[in-house]
Amino acid sequence: MVNEKSANKLERRRSFKRASLTFFGGIIFAVLLFVFVNVAMEPASRSEFCSSTCHEMNTAAKAWELSVHGANRFGIRVECVDCHLPPKEKFFTHVATKAYVGTMDVLIHFFGKDYDPEKSRQKAIEHMSNQTCLHCHDDLLARPGNSAARTAHMAVISRPDAAENKCVKCHEDAGHERKSKLFSQQK
Ligand code: HEC
Ligand code: HEC
Ligand code: HEC
Repeated sequence: MVNEKSANKLERRRSFKRASLTFFGGIIFAVLLFVFVNVAMEPASRSEFCSSTCHEMNTAAKAWELSVHGANRFGIRVECVDCHLPPKEKFFTHVATKAYVGTMDVLIHFFGKDYDPEKSRQKAIEHMSNQTCLHCHDDLLARPGNSAARTAHMAVISRPDAAENKCVKCHEDAGHERKSKLFSQQK
């Protein structure tokens, strides 16, 4: 009787040990897989890849090259992923979003309806958070700027979540120079 009890106890302890081994093994595996996926996706994070792989991106890529972020007097290029994905410091959200939108892009490319640039534009404006821009532009009020900029930016910094204070609402052309006459914006 006593022996049976302790045997049961032992068995329970063993299966608990097995379960926790499986559990932690699973976590370690998931983390490794996650890091691997991130490294494997590196080539797909370059602007050249984004702009040359699918025809849907052609206009966006040309318009980017003409924008302040594609070319400026400092010779700094701000890459597609710098704006279109959450910041890299937020490692998990960055990689998860990358995997998700990357997969969706591919699926839509092959199985989706005709690409609607206007719809994508609106979606991009809606989703691009001020955090994305402030990540680099953390000196808005320190810049000389003009008074219109100063008034606008004071409001942005005091109420960053208000809909009218969204950077890309006022700076819609920041990532893509849409008004340029240098090329015709055809697909
Ligand atoms: C400075 C931030 C920024 C950068 C860098 C940037 N974008 Fe954008 N992107 C935007 C914003 C803002 C919009 C929405 C407004 C617009 O369309 O101009 C947008 C819209 C888009 C759209 C939807 C409209 C369309 O033309 O189909 C695509 C696709 C796109 N971007 C791809 C890219 C690619 C590819 C790159 C790199 C070659 C890139 N973006 C670089 C900010 C950026
Ligand atoms: C990876 C860094 C980075 C990100 C992200 C970024 N920018 Fe910039 N931005 C720059 C650099 C570098 C320049 C060119 C130098 C300058 O004027 O400060 C610039 C220039 C600009 C200019 C023109 C400034 C001028 O003097 O004419 C505007 C407006 C601007 N960015 C808005 C935005 C908005 C809006 C976003 C978010 C969608 C954004 N930026 C995201 C780095 C960045
Ligand atoms: C309510 C509209 C509005 C909003 C929202 C806004 N800006 Fe501006 N921004 C302006 C105006 C107006 C200027 C001056 C434009 C000019 O001189 O051509 C300006 C200029 C700039 C410049 C050029 C440098 C300067 O200071 O003059 C940068 C960079 C910039 N904005 C970044 C941002 C970022 C990043 C955000 C979001 C955190 C943002 N802006 C939100 C209206 C706005």
